[in-house]
Amino acid sequence: MKNSYDVIIIGAGAAGLFCAFNTANKGKSVLVLDHANKVGKKILMSGGGRCNFTNLNTTADDFVSQNRHFCKSALSQYTAYDFLSLVEKHNIEYVEKSAGQLFCKHSSKDILNMLLNECASAGVKIYKRCEIDKISSKENGFEISSTLGMFVSKCLVIATGGLSIPTLGASGYGYDIASQFKHKVIETSPSLVPFVLKEKNLLRIKDLSGVSLPVEMQIIRGNSELIRDDLLFTHRGLSGPAVLKISMNWHKGEGISINLLPSMDLGEYIETEKEEHGEQLVSTCLSRIIPKRLAIKLCEENFENVRIKHLKKTDIEKLSKRIHSWEIYPESTEGYRTAEVTLGGVSTDQISSKTMQSSNVPDLYFIGEVLDVTGQLGGYNFQWAWSSAWCASEAINKNN
Ligand code: FDA
Repeated sequence: MKNSYDVIIIGAGAAGLFCAFNTANKGKSVLVLDHANKVGKKILMSGGGRCNFTNLNTTADDFVSQNRHFCKSALSQYTAYDFLSLVEKHNIEYVEKSAGQLFCKHSSKDILNMLLNECASAGVKIYKRCEIDKISSKENGFEISSTLGMFVSKCLVIATGGLSIPTLGASGYGYDIASQFKHKVIETSPSLVPFVLKEKNLLRIKDLSGVSLPVEMQIIRGNSELIRDDLLFTHRGLSGPAVLKISMNWHKGEGISINLLPSMDLGEYIETEKEEHGEQLVSTCLSRIIPKRLAIKLCEENFENVRIKHLKKTDIEKLSKRIHSWEIYPESTEGYRTAEVTLGGVSTDQISSKTMQSSNVPDLYFIGEVLDVTGQLGGYNFQWAWSSAWCASEAINKNN
């Protein structure tokens, strides 16, 4: 087994694989080491199996970081349109779901296969099931001792991702290496993650698991952003894109106000229905505008078997409050077990925003989610993986 390479990349996920073939294409020998039994597991799981691989409207405002300007250079060096050209070169069919959000038409496998084919034709070596024991910085590069032996390289790229979903290979190893080389690590927390509700709230919504509907929601505090997207009731609480989005700004103890019927005014609708179909049950009337199971649930306590013509003004106000401003205080989130991303990570303070190179240790690079750069829901996190990986590969090829 050859053990000396120009570049060793730790982590064969989105950023690691992308960096690998772009570096190898310029003539560098590249080895990628991963401790998992399969590479690119998160790519396969992403976008519900259809990988939301980029967002054409990506800007720095779509990311959270202690330095919100950090991502700008990388995003402009390698844009969503650059990645799209690669996807098109590989004849991968894609669809635009909502404005700018691009998904594979068939399967996430198309993206992973594209990365692996590029790696194969560029001559990248990938070793799986490789546990790394120790990394040392030497005069001319790095020495990596692992369960597959000792490897040396001139450059080292850390692409170990964040902490979310340990069963997909996530680990905090990238943060350990960063600390070893005297990099600051910003406290991490799970994000883009479903909410868990308190037992008493869960009992109230327990029959609703699987129900999904478009909503508007807002954290109950001044100046909080209004999120418009789908809500999904689960057996543990609340999920769906609206919840994942709001989880990025939510802190334990805060309440959420949810409008379950943002498209119309319930009071006006009921008044019209009263005149035209007064004999119908309240639940029947509601089930025409919100999912039936939710309509039945909302009527269970006070309006079961009540006809709409019998609703008083105070009843309509009560129902309107329940539907237009349902307030819920989540107990917690589902944590790293199901979170899509990790907030925080390796501080950008000691990383060049143009090259992703460490300012503490020459030829050491950090790319992708391991850094303190986290995208919102919508394909931004993959775009960050591609853009940051591109910058590192360009710099490695230029400097060596
Ligand atoms: P990634 O996590 O991809 O790769 C890290 C690699 O490092 C893994 O292969 C891991 O095994 C390896 N590794 C970790 N520790 C190691 C160690 N100690 N030794 C060796 N190897 C180690 N984003 C998006 O833009 N659109 C989407 O549709 C989705 N969907 C989505 C769904 C789900 C379920 C999740 C969990 C996440 C998403 N994301 C997403 C987020 C996206 O998957 C994520 O941001 C990128 O994969 C990050 O790419 P990285 O290469 O940085 O890490």
